[in-house]
Amino acid sequence: MLKVLNIVGARPNFMKIAPIVEAMRRRARRFQPLVVHTGQHYDAQMSDAFFRDLGLPEPDVYLGVGSGSHAVQTAKVMIEFEPVVLEQKPDWVLVVGDVNSTIACALVCSKLGIKVAHVEAGLRSRDRTMPEEINRILTDQISDLLLTPSGDGDENLKAEGIDEHKIRFVGNVMIDSLFNQLKRAEEVSKIREKLSVDGKDYAVLTLHRPSNVDDKETFSRLLDAIENINERLPVIFPVHPRTHGRISEFGFEERAKKLMLIEPLGYLDFMRLYSGARLVLTDSGGIQEETTALGIPCLTLRENTERPITVTMGTNKIVGTDTEKIEREAFNALSESREKTPAQIPPLWDGKTAERICDALLEYGKQNSL
Ligand code: UD1
Repeated sequence: MLKVLNIVGARPNFMKIAPIVEAMRRRARRFQPLVVHTGQHYDAQMSDAFFRDLGLPEPDVYLGVGSGSHAVQTAKVMIEFEPVVLEQKPDWVLVVGDVNSTIACALVCSKLGIKVAHVEAGLRSRDRTMPEEINRILTDQISDLLLTPSGDGDENLKAEGIDEHKIRFVGNVMIDSLFNQLKRAEEVSKIREKLSVDGKDYAVLTLHRPSNVDDKETFSRLLDAIENINERLPVIFPVHPRTHGRISEFGFEERAKKLMLIEPLGYLDFMRLYSGARLVLTDSGGIQEETTALGIPCLTLRENTERPITVTMGTNKIVGTDTEKIEREAFNALSESREKTPAQIPPLWDGKTAERICDALLEYGKQNSL
């Protein structure tokens, strides 16, 4: 029986952990899964709504670290998590993605000699000004099992000198959640009706990267483009708390009001919203993948992506932050028919990744007599 502490911290972690915990629960004779929530995200809409929508069990342990500078937040997670590991003595700690909670928990375990599995390993934007890129590189270096979502992940890890035996290509676990919940989202969410956009053309925008919203000029350039796109079709903008703060700080309230500004949405409402959109504009990582899986055109408002397969196989285009380029690409996408050749879904984005993750943990145990 493998005791596994599954770590969640921030919004993009919940939909990755949910199917893994569910798969472990289905194999109750082999796994004892516990959920540890670091509390990096704590607002009802950034955290609780996801537990509810995804059917995630209440966390077994809540560390309550909250917000802070990178150093403060990372250090707080480490300080709170170490005694939990010492008390629980897990066989594995499973971390996902690239947030501060991911590196903090991995680092605690690597010093205590506890095995770490990293889900979504090997992604690289090659942009070290992104805090997430630092988290990815370091987490991969100290993890024992590297579970990759796409072939580029395997290649990146090997190029960084990581032993091939630690790497397993398992596919994209976020797509498990997407496929598990899509039908339910259709049934229970009334978000399109609430916003009066059901059956109409609309775009969805999300923005929260510090490089986009913490810099007044960049944020302003993005808003210029979005305002023009909004003349063509309504742009719905669920606003992340960081972005909300910047809108007031930079005095952008009047400009933002032209768009359809709403609170951050839960998992099911957001899924129902983007799945009906004509176009998605985002600087998120996960949304690039979700739109690819559903064949929705996506413009990524960044200069790079750690998820190149969404561009080579999927519906994603990297358009940066230049006003004219964004407008041009948006109008191009809008002029293409909805039925345009559907993009391909990348290999192993098939809804069965959580099962392969469980298999990989068991197999590692056999090979290393755990
Ligand atoms: C974090 C992740 C990022 C991920 C994003 C998704 C890191 C380095 N960044 O960024 O990779 O894409 O989550 O949302 O881990 N706040 C609230 N309520 C909350 C959480 C945050 O009001 O529940 C506010 C606080 O003012 C905080 C700010 O948002 O200072 C930023 O939160 P933080 O967790 O530092 O980073 P994110 O920008 O959310």
